[in-house]
Amino acid sequence: MTILQKTIIFGHRGSAGTYPENTMESFKAAYEAGAEGLEFDIHLTKDLVPVVIHDETINRTTNGEGWIKDLTLEQLKTYDAGNWFDNSFKGATIPTLDELLQWVSTTSLLLNLELKSGLVRYPNVEKIVLEYLTKYDVKERTIISSFNHYSLVEINKLDPEAETAILFMEGIYEPWNYARSIGASGLHCYLPVAAPDLLQGAQKAGMPVRPFTVNEEKHMYALIKGGCSAIITDYPEKAIAIRNELNSK
Ligand code: G3P
Ligand code: CA
Repeated sequence: MTILQKTIIFGHRGSAGTYPENTMESFKAAYEAGAEGLEFDIHLTKDLVPVVIHDETINRTTNGEGWIKDLTLEQLKTYDAGNWFDNSFKGATIPTLDELLQWVSTTSLLLNLELKSGLVRYPNVEKIVLEYLTKYDVKERTIISSFNHYSLVEINKLDPEAETAILFMEGIYEPWNYARSIGASGLHCYLPVAAPDLLQGAQKAGMPVRPFTVNEEKHMYALIKGGCSAIITDYPEKAIAIRNELNSK
């Protein structure tokens, strides 16, 4: 039996392939499927409450309309975040970070908190999320990522112990050097960028790579066989089955 270096499976927005993304239902499904980690997205409401949702507006994933920055938590909670996906999920709401962490603190799940601070510059979002991670004592098992690398620098200024990872879509040359230069310690790249030269270079440099979004079986097989540190997938159950199969050979 070959024991491969274990590739950690992060459920993207929970189990976004089979559940309404970024809902408690989706996170619990990823956990029950056996994912070791959860990836999720954070924005701030008008009253500065961190909430778990991907887009800047609620238009795509709820029955409402409007920008999160313009809606209070009380207003946001009146909308349905499950029915758009399938009517069997009617009644799901947009979770607050508080609700998510309260449940996570009863598990040993790893977290990948993505700060969606690129289009809207939410005031003090970095400080606010660090306070929540401290409140629930989950900072040591959380990786904070963002496409807005200024936010990552801010996180590291506020808390040099916090673990950060750069999100990127294009072929940054030797991204491990760039990541280190801004205090980040992980590479969260778009799957097509995770080519052998990047994977091998990062491995040599001792920096974990966690590509997104790895949904096709052929990519799961290749990355898990290659010993990639982690993958971020909408189908954690499929990734776990593939990892089990490879480990039993
Ligand atoms: O964190 C990985 C991935 O979620 C980044 O892209 O647009 O799905 O949030 P996006
Ligand atoms: Ca994300």
